[in-house]
Amino acid sequence: MPSILFIGAGRMAEAIFSGLLRQPKQPFDSIYVTNRTNKERLGELAQRYAITPVDTHGAIAAKADVLLLAMPPSAHGEVLSELAPMIRGQLIITVAAGIGPSDMEAQLPEGTAAAWIMPNTAAQVGTSISLYAFGKNVAEKQKLLVKEIVHAIGAGEELSEEQIHDLTAITGSAPAFVYEFALQLEKMALSYGITDKQARHLVKTMLAGSVKMLETGAPPQELRDQVTTPGGATEAGLVSLGNDHFSAMLERAVHAVTDHAKNKRN
Ligand SMILES: NC(=O)c1ccc[n+]([C@@H]2O[C@H](COP(=O)([O-])OP(=O)(O)OC[C@H]3O[C@@H](n4cnc5c(N)ncnc54)[C@H](OP(=O)(O)O)[C@@H]3O)[C@@H](O)[C@H]2O)c1
Repeated sequence: MPSILFIGAGRMAEAIFSGLLRQPKQPFDSIYVTNRTNKERLGELAQRYAITPVDTHGAIAAKADVLLLAMPPSAHGEVLSELAPMIRGQLIITVAAGIGPSDMEAQLPEGTAAAWIMPNTAAQVGTSISLYAFGKNVAEKQKLLVKEIVHAIGAGEELSEEQIHDLTAITGSAPAFVYEFALQLEKMALSYGITDKQARHLVKTMLAGSVKMLETGAPPQELRDQVTTPGGATEAGLVSLGNDHFSAMLERAVHAVTDHAKNKRN
């Protein structure tokens, strides 16, 4: 069975290896984890999970089958140049925003297998929607491993590298828009004299119910229209949102994310 080394031991690394360890059939026989400086964190993780902490990636990178980079995008340049001389057929995966397989291939020896998984924070509870793409040199067996990693933290969709750059705003960043929406509704609910706990409960349950309705497969327009009696109160609210250019606002927010990420890449 293959082994995997996580370089980076933060929230995303923990979400992924804890997801892997929950699988009935383990895809990896060893899970090694390393980070940069916080060795206390490595010790805590090793107490909680069946992983092997390692001081530096240098010790394991040459012999692991999969190297999963779960560190900030800004650390990739340095770490990839350290890994380059150790590459002998390993699969390199990154979960970093904005770094696709072609970026990694450009920094690693010719023929290196590279893949990109773009999860979101719901990976922590096993319900991420993760976008993933493969570079030019990934073998079928390695693709299966990527899919197992993706499914250990939720659902996945294989796309092209360029599509992931464009859609990260919608699957990766838009959860923050949803939480902002929840926050504003909670604030309004509180202004009507209920407790924090009640406001949280009302908004959370309303959102969860709406998601369940979407999960029936009904299109959002149909579900919206079910709530909206023509000439009724909800319609007045939707007209107000339209007057405030709600769809243009969302479009601008999505473009702001993508433009910001693109500027960082160039
Ligand atoms: N969190 C999410 O929901 C999410 C979603 C999608 C994608 N991502 C991506 O996942 C990656 C990790 O995010 P995170 O939320 O897990 O971050 P995090 O909790 O801040 O953890 C970052 C980890 O990277 C390590 N690290 C930093 N520089 C390093 C280096 N040069 N060599 C080895 N390890 C290094 C840190 O080690 P020290 O603590 O020792 O410095 C830490 O363990 C990022 O690229 C992010 O874009 C995260």
